[in-house]
Amino acid sequence: MKMVVCGCCAASWKRCVVVCLRFLFLLPAGLPVRSQGQSQSDNKQMDNITVRQGETVFLSCSQGDFVTHTAWLNRSSILYAGEDKWSVDPRVSLVTFNQDEFTIKIEDVDLTDEGQYICAVQTISRPRTTSVHLIVQVPPKIVNLSKDLVLNEGSNVTLMCLASGRPEPAIVWRMISPSDDGLSSDTEVLEIPFITKQRAGTYECTAANDIAVDTQTVELTVNYPPSVSEGRDVGVTLGQRGVLECEADAVPEADFEWYRDDRRIFSSFDGIEIENAGALSKLTFFNVSEADYGNYTCVAINKLGSANTNIVLYEIIEPTSSTLLQVETASVLQMTSSDLEQTAFENNEFWEGPGAVQDGNSGTSTMFTPTCLLLIVVLQLLLKF
Ligand SMILES: *[C@@H]1O[C@H](CO)[C@@H](O)[C@H](O)[C@H]1NC(C)=O
Ligand SMILES: *[C@@H]1O[C@H](CO)[C@@H](O)[C@H](O)[C@H]1NC(C)=O
Ligand SMILES: *[C@@H]1O[C@H](CO)[C@@H](O)[C@H](O)[C@H]1NC(C)=O
Ligand SMILES: *[C@@H]1O[C@H](CO)[C@@H](O)[C@H](O)[C@H]1NC(C)=O
Ligand SMILES: *[C@@H]1O[C@H](CO)[C@@H](O)[C@H](O)[C@H]1NC(C)=O
Ligand SMILES: *[C@@H]1O[C@H](CO)[C@@H](O)[C@H](O)[C@H]1NC(C)=O
Repeated sequence: MKMVVCGCCAASWKRCVVVCLRFLFLLPAGLPVRSQGQSQSDNKQMDNITVRQGETVFLSCSQGDFVTHTAWLNRSSILYAGEDKWSVDPRVSLVTFNQDEFTIKIEDVDLTDEGQYICAVQTISRPRTTSVHLIVQVPPKIVNLSKDLVLNEGSNVTLMCLASGRPEPAIVWRMISPSDDGLSSDTEVLEIPFITKQRAGTYECTAANDIAVDTQTVELTVNYPPSVSEGRDVGVTLGQRGVLECEADAVPEADFEWYRDDRRIFSSFDGIEIENAGALSKLTFFNVSEADYGNYTCVAINKLGSANTNIVLYEIIEPTSSTLLQVETASVLQMTSSDLEQTAFENNEFWEGPGAVQDGNSGTSTMFTPTCLLLIVVLQLLLKF
């Protein structure tokens, strides 16, 4: 087993290396490494090496003439003694070993590899060491994030975002949708006291360091009681179709109830249908009867409360057939039969009364026959239905 552990490292790594080397190569004490050899050895600190997690790092140290022994150490463990691999780690391998250069590499670098690496060189005259500090960078990763939340309006909310990474990532919270309302935090915690429905939406946590950025989002749903938009009264002619509409804003979505006075109304086979689609409820009368006219109430309910509005279904009186006949008789008297036929086919201006008809009139009054009048009345009835 080629495992070297020096138990003396608490004191100083330089001394440790010297002692280790002596132990390793069974150097005679005092020659050339003296027991107090530090003062006579060259110890050089190289620039830090920064490498990303998962990458490969090359550790190189110059050799020179008269080198008798040389080794690369990770803290107190020898990785390579010359060409001999001491490390059992398969990620460590020799790249170059010659008179000038001694280079090893570590593949798939991890955080645990961070630290001091020492190249110890034993020459005929004196030992020297070159040490290098390996810094491992890790891209940010959000490791603990608040779950999506469903809350009631007025709750206090605390959102949490914890991230790992090296250097330590900076955390920023902000609301991104439906709108960025300026609510943000540059710590791991975002506090939202007394949350309102306007604060419902998507919140984003960003963890960033020199290397990369990680982003995650949290969805906040805020429950609130219904509010109903004011109902619009609806006018319908007898026998026609009438639709009352009721719209409610609520989370969770409201359930609707319709009332006439204090009596609840349900969908039925006798011509009433209640249809709910999301925020909208429709009460439909397929064939409005006299008894249907009145004052209706729409109530929207969810678990946080309810709201209502009143909608009046009122009657629109269409011109009756007797009033029509009068209007037509008057008109016909002023028109030629050919004019009348043409007008009747082309448009519905009859409904607007004599004035409208007169505009299209040549002005010359001619004979009037009962047959003609009959034709016009029949035509009108056909157009109406
Ligand atoms: C090398 O890294 C160490 C540890 O992070 C730090 O204390 C030292 O200042 C760095 N040296 C250089 C030259 O950057
Ligand atoms: C260096 O030493 C540390 C601590 O013993 C160990 O976790 C790490 O895997 C070593 N790295 C290499 C490349 O030997
Ligand atoms: C995430 O944070 C919560 C609250 O601080 C804590 O209870 C939980 O243990 C954390 N989970 C992890 C994996 O760190
Ligand atoms: C929210 O926090 C305030 C103080 O910040 C506290 O008075 C209130 O009771 C809290 N509300 C809830 C629902 O916890
Ligand atoms: C509407 O109701 C009236 C009275 O009940 C009935 O006479 C008429 O045929 C109905 N119309 C339709 C289109 O169902
Ligand atoms: C409808 O009824 C409600 C109460 O049931 C009342 O407040 C409202 O004034 C009524 N609307 C009309 C137009 O009568």
